[in-house]
Amino acid sequence: MADTVKKPVEKKPIKITETVLRDAHQSLIATRMTTEQMLPIVDKMDKVGYHSVECWGGATFDASLRFLKEDPWERLRKLRDGFKNTKLQMLFRGQNILGYHQYADDVVEYFVQKSIANGIDIIRIFDCMNDLRNLQTAVNASKKEKGHSQVALSYTLGDAYTLEYWTEMAKRIEDMGADSICIKDMAGLLVPYKATELITAMKEVTSLPIQLHTHYTSGVASMTYLKAVEAGVDVIDTAMSPFSMGTSQPATEVMVETFKGTPWDTGYDQNLLAEIADYFRPIQEDALKTGLLNPKVMGVNIKTLLYQVPGGMLSNLVSQLKEQGAEDKYYEVLDEVPRVRKDLGEPPLVTPSSQIVGTQSVFNVLMGERYKMATAETKAVLRGEYGATAKPFNPEVQKKVIGDEQPITCRPADLIPPELDKLEAEMSQWKEQDEDVLSYALFPQVAVEFFKDREAKKTKIDPKAADTDNKAYPV
Ligand code: CO
Repeated sequence: MADTVKKPVEKKPIKITETVLRDAHQSLIATRMTTEQMLPIVDKMDKVGYHSVECWGGATFDASLRFLKEDPWERLRKLRDGFKNTKLQMLFRGQNILGYHQYADDVVEYFVQKSIANGIDIIRIFDCMNDLRNLQTAVNASKKEKGHSQVALSYTLGDAYTLEYWTEMAKRIEDMGADSICIKDMAGLLVPYKATELITAMKEVTSLPIQLHTHYTSGVASMTYLKAVEAGVDVIDTAMSPFSMGTSQPATEVMVETFKGTPWDTGYDQNLLAEIADYFRPIQEDALKTGLLNPKVMGVNIKTLLYQVPGGMLSNLVSQLKEQGAEDKYYEVLDEVPRVRKDLGEPPLVTPSSQIVGTQSVFNVLMGERYKMATAETKAVLRGEYGATAKPFNPEVQKKVIGDEQPITCRPADLIPPELDKLEAEMSQWKEQDEDVLSYALFPQVAVEFFKDREAKKTKIDPKAADTDNKAYPV
């Protein structure tokens, strides 16, 4: 088998997923772009000819409800109205949906159904452990609703993550019925020549389209895209220049220009892209002025290559240590991160595993004894409740943290009974649309705050509400 003839690489126009409405602002300005800021430019963006626009999911759902006091479902419907010709894409955390723990299958299925019904075309589904069992329900649901299901592998480095690991995964993804594969490099760890190797190897084992998603954090991303495109990758993720680079993606205009006049030419209109960039630039400048955009995240963070952790995780560690008045422990914690990661089976570091490993590392250093205190999430990982890891857990650590408890080995959600009816009952007083139960399922407290706020606003502007008969009602 070793001497089989390699397939020639097909040279065809490269497709682009534009991330400015999701990952780019999540990475640079804490997901604070509002629907109002997005809508005026949608018409122009719709004319570019993007493969898709990523505009929903990830942290946008949480941030909309929690900080912007916006209904994320309403945002999706408005974007759908505006984008007449462009596919809309979302990021979905497998069995965690857009939350931080595992949900029952009925909630996952309903969320997928409503996402597609409200306008999503492509669902990119990933799991922080790369445990494909955690993705199957979402993949099946998305197929049932006639959506495009893309399985994303969280890219990471480590003993377990060989070329064989990735190609084996690619074959299994094809077998599970997904429509495409994404390599999701959240930390910018994939360097250019490794991208050649990885894409070439994956292309040999699967006929599914392959999309590459990376971040500029370590400074190599646009070179990585160049090599990946030459090796036959089908789609790359980029962001309009004002929200590109740093912890975000390479700039759309730059990648478009790079491939101009080659077999990979996108054919996009640079003048149109320039107009779109002109629209986003003042939003970026404002964010710089208010401090929402920290110039630090715009540069190259070489530590991400050294410590192999995503940029967002580094800044989280800094703020966690600041809260504890222990900023001087930063490098000790950074050294502890890879050790904790190994103890927990060497998972990729992506939401929520990045938070779990990060917080446990802070605990281990601040308590002066490793695993003297374990977080609830660390316990859950070691009980197998997040799924299977690429490497076994450290048995001593497992013993210290969960004692004689028997870890589970089945798909974690097999043990979670249906929860939708119970959730419906809990939140029925707030319900104004079917989707409200899903907002509540993911973020119960935040959603209720939002529902109260929504009701209060309505009372204020509803003329009928003003038509009182002088009775005082509590509001
Ligand atoms: Co990303």
